[in-house]
Amino acid sequence: MKKLELIYEGKAKRVYRTEDEDFYVMEFKDDATAFNGQKRGTIKGKGELNTKISAVFFEILEENGVKTHFERLLSDREMLVKAVKILPLEVIVRNLAAGSMAKRLGLQEGTKLKSPVLEFCYKSDELGDPMINAYHALAMDLATKEEIAFIEETSFKVNEILSQFLIKKNIILVDFKLEFGRFKGEILVADEISPDTCRFWDAKTMEKLDKDRFRRDLGNVEEAYKEILSRIKS
Ligand code: C5P
Repeated sequence: MKKLELIYEGKAKRVYRTEDEDFYVMEFKDDATAFNGQKRGTIKGKGELNTKISAVFFEILEENGVKTHFERLLSDREMLVKAVKILPLEVIVRNLAAGSMAKRLGLQEGTKLKSPVLEFCYKSDELGDPMINAYHALAMDLATKEEIAFIEETSFKVNEILSQFLIKKNIILVDFKLEFGRFKGEILVADEISPDTCRFWDAKTMEKLDKDRFRRDLGNVEEAYKEILSRIKS
């Protein structure tokens, strides 16, 4: 499928229109940012690794009845995706307290949560993606009531599917962020699912195998992403 003009460039990805109005090409970059763009860098090979890792997760979700925007891989760092209209919502699901939740609530990182937690954030770079709840999303007309209910149900289902898959690979799915898009009357899981958007901990050593290695200057960032790809492919 031929790549036409660039329609979106974000921190980690570019999206191009194609000859077919139903499909976009999504290209993954090596650039990394954290803390709302205040920390910047590049992680060698990240684009290719996140392309492959996301493809594996999207395929697993599709096999388990969750519809995603993923169509197929086009190259080492490009995938063909359905031309969804992304909702301005980030959906975070958490199994263990970490990151912003641990900080906000004074919980020790790694505290097992009695039940999974779902959070919404309003996608806005200027505002730093503030946390909102479903009432805000409705009031601001970010999604309909039915869409929000579907998104919540689907996000918990994704958590179940990916947690069960990953634990067999000795990986704990600590938390993750999803984005959703509208396409032909349906809501699809979109964007990416990768170590940039999930926290993955080794189940034995609790070693971090995700973007926290970059955020917290822990070193061996590329190695961690490679380790995730090699475990989920095995
Ligand atoms: O920083 P925080 O603890 O809120 O992040 C929760 C989860 O959501 C982490 O897995 C993080 O990688 C992901 N996230 C993301 N994009 C954001 C914010 C969080 O992928 N803008």
